[in-house]
Amino acid sequence: MGLFDKFQGLAAARGELEKLGVDPFGVEIERILSPTEGIIHGRRTVLAGTNNYLGLTFDPDCIAAAKRALDTEGTGTTGSRMANGSYANHRKLERELAAFYEMRDAIVFSTGYQANLGLLSGLMGPDDVVLLDADCHASIYDGCRLAGAEVIRFRHNNVEDLAKRMRRLGPRAADTLIVIEGIYSMLGDRAPLREIVEVKRELGGYLLVDEAHSVGVLGDRGRGLVEEMDVLADADFIVGTFSKSLGGAGGFCVSNLPALDLVRYSSRPYIFTASPSPATIASTRQALVKLEAGRDLRARLRVNYERLHSALEAMGYTLGAPPSPVIAVVLGERNEALQFWKRLVEHGVYVNLMLPPATPNGVSLIRCSVSAAHSSEQIDAVCRAFSDLRSTAGIVAAELGTG
Ligand SMILES: Cc1ncc(COP(=O)(O)O)c(C=O)c1O
Repeated sequence: MGLFDKFQGLAAARGELEKLGVDPFGVEIERILSPTEGIIHGRRTVLAGTNNYLGLTFDPDCIAAAKRALDTEGTGTTGSRMANGSYANHRKLERELAAFYEMRDAIVFSTGYQANLGLLSGLMGPDDVVLLDADCHASIYDGCRLAGAEVIRFRHNNVEDLAKRMRRLGPRAADTLIVIEGIYSMLGDRAPLREIVEVKRELGGYLLVDEAHSVGVLGDRGRGLVEEMDVLADADFIVGTFSKSLGGAGGFCVSNLPALDLVRYSSRPYIFTASPSPATIASTRQALVKLEAGRDLRARLRVNYERLHSALEAMGYTLGAPPSPVIAVVLGERNEALQFWKRLVEHGVYVNLMLPPATPNGVSLIRCSVSAAHSSEQIDAVCRAFSDLRSTAGIVAAELGTG
């Protein structure tokens, strides 16, 4: 087989999209106007697919902090944390994240993807076992692969399946790592965290919760599902990203376990890449202050997502999960979903199109992500577009969440 032969399938799939006149994976936001509005194809468009949950990307204090850092620390660190790229503010942010979670230590990574990659590959090795919820994010799968660890998938949100698979491991169960997410990125459903913690208390093991989509969103202080479910002390590792509710780029892991600090020395995605830029760190530190105090933002976000969720439900759409800022509309055929997505953009609403094999159970999804910064008029506009296009949606009663 030639070097490029493997691309034939991809080229054919892209050719199909071109024939349909749809390019859902190459959308260019020609101009960004606010956290919730941009220009796409020359048209003012409501952005409802950006994970900007608290709308902090244009926060004046975050922007001012980033500008100050640019002026005083320059545009980049030009090195890894292990070499020349660890600045005082990287460590300050780590201490602030640890204090936020009331944990012993934190590590900052250059992206959320690398936080999972770096923690999992730094912590685990070929002799270790990871128990993975089937719907976990690609970065978690990739981290396990880089670690060379044995991966046992359990059915999505199925606690009995997790317990069954742990029991089969016998005494090894006590040294496994269970990996779940707070809010799952595709369907927007939450992990049954209390029940999972019960399994861990009974059978042992360590628990990693990826709160990428729930930091800033859930919990009184925005610490995610672990806070909302009051099980913070049971989470051995919490991973998160700066790229969603914190409005920047980067990722982190916090833990009470002293070994976390040693992960720095074993984690290739931490060692062999440049550290986040000073401006990124500065805006994230400011955003973290806002996030922790952001009860009003969380309340506004909740009003927005509950409104959109109940409106879509009333229109007869099949939704992936109970209300959360991630609202997944389940559609039928791939081509119908493509056309539907295209019409939404033509109606001035940008959302995400998710197609198999990236989706659970091979469904096609239109994924909305709601922001505290959406005005009620913008939520109205999103509802109007879905209502106008209702007859073209190819709505199906899909069975979900079985991994
Ligand atoms: C659950 C989860 N973890 C990690 C990541 C990676 O985060 P980032 O995009 O900041 O690299 C994502 C991104 O969507 C995610 O959904």
